[in-house]
Amino acid sequence: MEKANIDWGNIGFGYIKTDKRYVSDYKNGSWDEGRLTEDNTVVISECAGVLQYAQTCFEGLKAYTTEDGHIVCFRPDLNADRMVDSCKRLEMPVFPKERFLEAVRMTVAANEAYVPPYGSGATLYIRPYMFGSSAVIGVKPAEEYQFRLFCTPVGPYFKGGVKPLTIRISDFDRAAPHGTGHIKAGLNYAMSLYAIVDAHEKGFDENMYLDAATRTKVEETGGANFIFVTKDGKVVTPKSGSILPSITRRSLMTVAKDYLGLEVEEREIYKDELKDMAECGLCGTAAVISPVGKINDHGTEICFPSGMTDMGPVTKKLYDTLTGIQMGRIEAPEGWICRIK
Ligand code: PLP
Ligand code: COI
Repeated sequence: MEKANIDWGNIGFGYIKTDKRYVSDYKNGSWDEGRLTEDNTVVISECAGVLQYAQTCFEGLKAYTTEDGHIVCFRPDLNADRMVDSCKRLEMPVFPKERFLEAVRMTVAANEAYVPPYGSGATLYIRPYMFGSSAVIGVKPAEEYQFRLFCTPVGPYFKGGVKPLTIRISDFDRAAPHGTGHIKAGLNYAMSLYAIVDAHEKGFDENMYLDAATRTKVEETGGANFIFVTKDGKVVTPKSGSILPSITRRSLMTVAKDYLGLEVEEREIYKDELKDMAECGLCGTAAVISPVGKINDHGTEICFPSGMTDMGPVTKKLYDTLTGIQMGRIEAPEGWICRIK
């Protein structure tokens, strides 16, 4: 298979149109059989539920070319499960897990030319999503929906690659207790746009959101969970009902414990503890693990001992092990790697 003519080493995290995408429509209470299409446009009612009341959710996962030339995905079953949770919370019909996995397989296989080669630094980002497509004017769920899945080759989410980030503690909240922070609803991202544009304008790479109720505990950023390493080498991550249960973070905690023999803990992490941490990283499908060098708390800087030039030593080991598993250099735990080709 001839690869697309793309400068793989120099692409950013953006949209590049690929050949085929998957579409299935929900009407009269059931999903149709689904299909691949070349059409990358969507035509819906001007009054569609997604356009009026943001009834939409999405997922994000990646396909990789392994060292021995296979194409694989990383834990797509967990994305399917999380999308079920998102749909239920948004009063949307569930797209069956087996069909989700089949849509991933079909779409990646149909776009093989766009799966970046091993060692290029790029990966194929897969974006499943669903939205209310029929008209609603009273506030209620739509009756018709569309599930779509496309993919696009991507480079690093943060421009500097693995250069440590500078983030700030945000005065805006991301998610309310008992709200929608734990699901991947489009609305969670719409409301973060003002805060991220403002952060960028002020020279910060990302926002650290605190818990909305007390503003004392660390939650997450707009698109990634946090992982910290304590000065005595323990890997800790925030526990909260209003953050997205990151698949990368869950995987990294397993890697830390079972591959690196480290102590791990998921617990509430107070803002006041940040100054005592040795390393900090943002983790997610897009971010992989991006090291954080510095946190700005309203003018007071919290600088991690790992510094502003390199990943901290534990973060680096986590990164190398996780990407090693994803690229087939390190044996994966049972069920983590889904081979497509
Ligand atoms: N938190 C938020 C708000 C996200 O958007 C994402 C991205 O999906 C993550 C965390 C990381 O989740 P995952 O590791 O499953 O990609
Ligand atoms: C991901 O990591 O997959 C995300 O969805 C984060 C961001 C691109 C929204």
